Amino acid sequence: MSPKIKPDKLQENPRTKRFGKKVFFKHKVSSTNEWAKELAKLGAQEGTVAVAETQTAGHGRLNREWISPEGGLWFSIILRPKALASKAIQLVFVVGVAVAEVLRRRFRVKVETKWPNDVLVNGKKVCGILVEMNTTREEVNYVVTGIGINANFDVRKVLPRQLREVATSLENELGRKIRLEKLFNALLENLERTYDLYTVKGFTPVLQIWKKYANFLGHKVEVSNQEEKITGLALDVDDEGALVLKLEDGRARRVFIGDVSLCV
Ligand code: BTN
Repeated sequence: MSPKIKPDKLQENPRTKRFGKKVFFKHKVSSTNEWAKELAKLGAQEGTVAVAETQTAGHGRLNREWISPEGGLWFSIILRPKALASKAIQLVFVVGVAVAEVLRRRFRVKVETKWPNDVLVNGKKVCGILVEMNTTREEVNYVVTGIGINANFDVRKVLPRQLREVATSLENELGRKIRLEKLFNALLENLERTYDLYTVKGFTPVLQIWKKYANFLGHKVEVSNQEEKITGLALDVDDEGALVLKLEDGRARRVFIGDVSLCV
């Protein structure tokens, strides 16, 4: 089986209504998120997707580098939600649910969601999600949701030493390569379904599913961001996507930015 993506198999997903009806593919781009933003500025419709085989400047949250070798699934989808900018962060959870459900159903692996934007398999990060938006005052013009899945490569050969302990790939977990086009199409179907649930029924049902995968809830965690390190019991993720911690002195604290690690 080819570890690479087959561009002709990405087009015209017959099982979606809007997502992936227009798919742009390049072997190499700087970042599919940057490319999708250009397409959105030119008026691309909701559901348009930009896919690349490799990215030379893939990036993640807090502008961190996202290493994107051949064999990964790197793509960005354009959304045009009728939402206020303050709510658009909820889309991170919409995407997280869609990815988690597809990975669990297709590969029968132990999937977890980790606040705010990671999907883990067997306790290690396999997918990162980056949501970026363009707004006019409080109104959202478009949102680009980037999804990076470590798929057909061995993280021990590709990622720097410090990431090998915390990251994994589907190949590492399954012991085989997968068909990237099939995973791509399954993701688009589930993304459309979860996004429709979100637009019709709101954030609550999506967040409920996301929390079912959130094994860190109920455990003592450390949240670090540029300003501080906070330790507490991870109580909940609330309707604004904030992580609610119970601090050691018993007070509750809502956190909006940071990296979570379990305290052992
Ligand atoms: C993170 O974990 O911080 C988010 C990583 C998101 C990576 C994806 S890969 C496709 C898209 N293009 C990018 O440059 N980033 C996202």
